[in-house]
Amino acid sequence: MTTHHIALVPGDGIGTEVLPPARRVLDAVSRRHGFRLAYTTYDDWSCASYLREGAMMPDDGLDQLRDKDAILLGAVGHPDVPDHVSLWGLLIPIRRGFQQYVNLRPIRVFRGVDSPVRGALPGEVDLVVVRENTEGEYSEIGGRLNRGLPEELAVQEAVFTRTGVTRVVDYAFGLAADRGSRLTSATKSNGIVHTMPFWDELVAACGAGHPDVAWEQEHVDALAAKLVLEPARYDVIVASNLFGDVLSDLAAAVAGSIGIAPAANLNPERTFPSMFEPVHGSAPDIAGRGVANPLGAIWSAALMLDHLGHQEAAGDVTNAIATLLATTDVRTPDLGGTASTEHFTEAILQLL
Ligand code: NAD
Ligand code: IPM
Ligand code: MN
Repeated sequence: MTTHHIALVPGDGIGTEVLPPARRVLDAVSRRHGFRLAYTTYDDWSCASYLREGAMMPDDGLDQLRDKDAILLGAVGHPDVPDHVSLWGLLIPIRRGFQQYVNLRPIRVFRGVDSPVRGALPGEVDLVVVRENTEGEYSEIGGRLNRGLPEELAVQEAVFTRTGVTRVVDYAFGLAADRGSRLTSATKSNGIVHTMPFWDELVAACGAGHPDVAWEQEHVDALAAKLVLEPARYDVIVASNLFGDVLSDLAAAVAGSIGIAPAANLNPERTFPSMFEPVHGSAPDIAGRGVANPLGAIWSAALMLDHLGHQEAAGDVTNAIATLLATTDVRTPDLGGTASTEHFTEAILQLL
């Protein structure tokens, strides 16, 4: 029997509440499809351990993950720990250290989910945000000077490299070709932001290599507005690190709740393990109440199964999510219901 070695990193807040449901779903489908998942759980890689021991993960953290087939992460972040500490201490080193340069974020409006947006109809909104995940606006170059003085300033250099942009844009074109769909590049090319004309040139060059894919570029501000007004017009959206971050939360909300949205941080060459995690964060405002929506984590687990070569098992999970939403009223509060995480999880397990 094939065994895949999975690292589970629950993290903080609702990260620790949504990973157990994902694991239960994985156990159910792996049993049915005849493969085995062997887990190593890193419970103490978190803000709690930072507060106790001064580190989000051990110095050899990446080495402990390196030989795993995939990583499933909950969320990182706690009100008592500055975000730059928790994020640069765990999440970002994994994304960068393992060259997970594609952040794939599918969005669907499921039947039975009320979107706050009039034009967001089930079946019609089915898009993927392909977010650059290792450079761009999230650079390590910059800092703050003159703290507290009138001359105080903060600077950050956005770094876009030919290799870094080309590899993710090429991936997005390939995905659009596979889906038989269009590609939209999110830009801000009116020359004010210096990096974006470079981004546009590289997108055009990739486009020339994919004559089969119809593509366009849109200014990210206009794109954000159209994503609300006409979400069904989008298929694959490729965007820089920061633009992709914002657009993916927006698209998730258009689809009903940020609690549903999944993400795959992919190292397409498979030199390193890829990481799967919900789009949402640790949600301190609802943490500990047992009401977090587990679907983002469960769908992320399905993306992981797909990555591991288990397309049928992954399809079973996404079908169960769709059936649950279409045929029952069981919902967590973010979707307008009163169900707990536990109750929602039980309902989805019944469908598997
Ligand atoms: P957030 O995603 O944690 O929360 C935003 C809002 O969405 C909150 O009102 C929250 O209650 C709600 N929400 C999020 N997920 C939900 C779910 N599954 N079910 C129901 N409601 C849900 O974003 P934030 O408030 O900006 O960040 C909180 C912390 O999480 C910060 O420390 C931040 O740095 C961190 N964060 C981590 C990640 C990650 O680990 N990948 C991602 C985003 C934010
Ligand atoms: C996400 C999060 C992270 C990001 C933060 C927490 C650094 O918002 O995964 O979308 O911006 O990448
Ligand atoms: Mn985000």
